[in-house]
Amino acid sequence: MEPEERPTIALGVTGGIACYKAVELVRLLVKEGFAVQVVMTREAMEFVTPLTFQTLSGRPVATETFSLTQESEIGHIRVADEAKLFVIAPATANIIGKIAAGIADDLLTTVLMATRAPVLIAPSMNVHMYEHPILQDNIRKLKGLGYHFMEPAEGYLACGYEGKGRLPEPEDIVEEIRRRLKKKDLIDEKLLITAGPNQEPLDPVRFISNRSSGKMGYALARIGLRRGAQVTLISGPTALPPPPGVCLVRATTAAEMREAVLQEFPQATAVLMAAAVADYHPEQPIGRKLKRAAGPIVLKLKPNPDILRELGARKNGRILIGFAAETEELVANARKKLREKNLDLIVANDVTQEGSGFESDTNVATLLDRRGTVRSLPLMSKEDLAERIFDYLLMLRAESSQ
Ligand code: CTP
Repeated sequence: MEPEERPTIALGVTGGIACYKAVELVRLLVKEGFAVQVVMTREAMEFVTPLTFQTLSGRPVATETFSLTQESEIGHIRVADEAKLFVIAPATANIIGKIAAGIADDLLTTVLMATRAPVLIAPSMNVHMYEHPILQDNIRKLKGLGYHFMEPAEGYLACGYEGKGRLPEPEDIVEEIRRRLKKKDLIDEKLLITAGPNQEPLDPVRFISNRSSGKMGYALARIGLRRGAQVTLISGPTALPPPPGVCLVRATTAAEMREAVLQEFPQATAVLMAAAVADYHPEQPIGRKLKRAAGPIVLKLKPNPDILRELGARKNGRILIGFAAETEELVANARKKLREKNLDLIVANDVTQEGSGFESDTNVATLLDRRGTVRSLPLMSKEDLAERIFDYLLMLRAESSQ
């Protein structure tokens, strides 16, 4: 991103032990291409020095309201105006109480009063403080006024207690920030997304599976959420963390996935089947561990039902998007699947191509739609591809409503 295009995040840091996580947050935000203006309270400076934030953000840190040098260099109204989003992380009970009471007695509270940017607050404190009715009342009040909150995470707290009060991980705060800044053009969509492989058991310790990592389906879920959709993600076994805000349903076998999909289908407005559904399962999984024998073993595999084809037969206004992983005759094979499964769009990729396919973070895809249009896309990240797929979904939606 060019410097002038970089959206500015104002980051208010208040005095809690989780200040160290705010350091990592700044590093991640800068890496993502945001300009970050840090505003620290006096208490925060007891935990981390402004120099740390200044070095990482490449900008002077605002700390004092009545400092002439700071006012000419940073300017508290400029900070308030420039911010696309104001984030407070970590937010203490004190800062939440002050905002709720309309107090503006230091730089951070003054800038917060002056800003028109949306404000995202990530509380972090001892579990009893977090549960205190006054704090909960303040949070309710601020939510009613349009302030956004992130739920603290649960776990071991620095004060020695276990419970709710941890600052969410910096990666999750960045994801929430991206989501808050994104155009909400999928707000009317309830997306049903499948991801990952299936595992079909052979015996209690072995299974047949495929190389799907789930990355494409998870990228779709993340981008869909950022663009305002409600997302149900039906996921085969993967090592990926579920995107915050997703409704996650886990399914191991193709039969379990089918059941979950059919259950969620009536509520969905669009389905994106990114899962690499297993086409076969062992005819008879063995109840006990298969022992090594001298001779070869013959496995008999039975076909699984084609979930997408079933959905295609009863789509009723829903948009259906399929995926085709091919090793030859990409367009011809994908076109056949599009037609046979009654899809609106199919995302085809040649898994033998460099930078494409299952375990990669990138993909080289060709989009084929129901009118016969074929569009080949260049190599891009799976997140960028997800953006393109949703742009296409909106185009198809607009066409069907004409
Ligand atoms: N699919 C499905 N149920 C299956 C198999 C596939 O819903 N039992 C979906 C996949 O999620 C994908 C699309 O159908 O969106 C195409 O999957 P693919 O495996 O490429 O197609 P198949 O029809 O299985 O054809 P083949 O394996 O012969 O290429």
